[in-house]
Amino acid sequence: MLERKPMIAGNWKMNLSYTQAENLIKSIAEGIEGLEGVDILVAPPFTHLAHVRQAMGNSRIFLAGQNMHWEMSGAYTGEISGRMLQEATCTHVILGHSERRIIFKETSEMIDLKVRAASFLSLIPILCVGETLEQREAGQTFAVIKEQLDLSFQNFRADELMRPSTILAYEPVWAIGTGRTATPDQAEEVHRFIRQWIENNFNTGTAALVRILYGGSVKPENIAELMSQPDIDGALVGGASLKGDSFVQIARYKEG
Ligand code: 13P
Repeated sequence: MLERKPMIAGNWKMNLSYTQAENLIKSIAEGIEGLEGVDILVAPPFTHLAHVRQAMGNSRIFLAGQNMHWEMSGAYTGEISGRMLQEATCTHVILGHSERRIIFKETSEMIDLKVRAASFLSLIPILCVGETLEQREAGQTFAVIKEQLDLSFQNFRADELMRPSTILAYEPVWAIGTGRTATPDQAEEVHRFIRQWIENNFNTGTAALVRILYGGSVKPENIAELMSQPDIDGALVGGASLKGDSFVQIARYKEG
């Protein structure tokens, strides 16, 4: 059976000065030297991308945008296109993060257009889904995740085009930045549901290959237990990715 290579990804959100970003990427590059069998990715703010690429030297760290527009160019003040991300050497793009959905009112229909544009450009989407605390407490978790998946991958489903390189991230909104992590069992249950959804809508081969990351208060102390679950293939880390030592410890979870 083909193995899914684990991925540890850092979402820096709207944090860090230019100099802090440079220091952080240098300490990550140094800290992961010799580390094998884990893909490492960071998503810095747009304005830091080129600088971060330069500062990492020869380190094999993937770069991602935190968002993008679905058009290639045009009169969209304040937006960045997938092509621009690629010019800044990004191979991946985070789409549908709950902060985009909730604060910036992005709908799953908009995210669907973005997923399609990213895929057209061969930019790998890291598509985020997750329920709020209210939805979880009302027993709606699976219905919410299903609807987000159904709507965010409409174009893929029509074309039967989901690539095995596509990455999904389960980020329960109540676990983001709250210090409250989903238990490994709670996370695994939703990851398994997402994999089953891929199998139902695409095929078993794709479902077996797509990586599903967990995000929400991941730290050095809880990563190993999360990663021991069969359907958790990595982590999308927010707060703990802003410090070199904690991010490197998370990346080296197998050694802990
Ligand atoms: P925290 O790790 O700070 O909870 O953030 C998670 C997240 O939103 C990553 O995209």
